[in-house]
Amino acid sequence: MSLRINDIAPDFTAETTHGPVSFHEWIGDGWAVLFSHPKNFTPVCTTELGTMAGLEGEFKKRNVKIIGISVDPVADHAKWQGDIKTATGHLVQYPLIGDKDLKVAKLYDMLPAGAGETSEGRTPADNATVRSVYVIGPDRKIKLVLTYPMTTGRNFDEILRAIDSMQLTAKHQVATPANWKQGEDVIITAAVSNEDAIKRFGAYETILPYLRKTKQPTG
Ligand code: BEZ
Repeated sequence: MSLRINDIAPDFTAETTHGPVSFHEWIGDGWAVLFSHPKNFTPVCTTELGTMAGLEGEFKKRNVKIIGISVDPVADHAKWQGDIKTATGHLVQYPLIGDKDLKVAKLYDMLPAGAGETSEGRTPADNATVRSVYVIGPDRKIKLVLTYPMTTGRNFDEILRAIDSMQLTAKHQVATPANWKQGEDVIITAAVSNEDAIKRFGAYETILPYLRKTKQPTG
């Protein structure tokens, strides 16, 4: 069965460009993003990994570690770094898992329907990982899952935006509306009475009885 939001992210050990990693231990006490790409030395993946390298500081600011994965061997990941830098101007400094035996890919359901059993003799169309993203919280639970097809590069700013929302809503009894961005008004959750809303948030606006908005809480 596939992994769902609120499942504990499966733990694993793997070879990475930073040496062996024990996943839960590596996460530490912060957040983590585990994201897969189909294959090294391919155009969309090159732009994706470079984009993530450029955003690494933004993830760090939010106490989020990032780790990439494909079924290519670690040695190939290392060889690919120069191309990523040439194409995007960013050096990949986060670890990349070399999941040659597809262990993590299977554990996280990252393979497309009809995938093979090993990475031997594969083509990108068969047993390559799809473009999956798992955001994992400090409690080791899965907070967000995304799956994109081979032809469509991901918008990693959206991952940051969603993390901003998840970190805010983990602290305060609020939710964030469509297309919300850091600093914009938020929604007061149904669990908060009108009386309590005044105490907690000061002023708020009632748009509908079940849609109350207030300024983004700080702290
Ligand atoms: C790409 O990243 O461009 C790509 C990956 C797998 C198959 C085809 C293209």
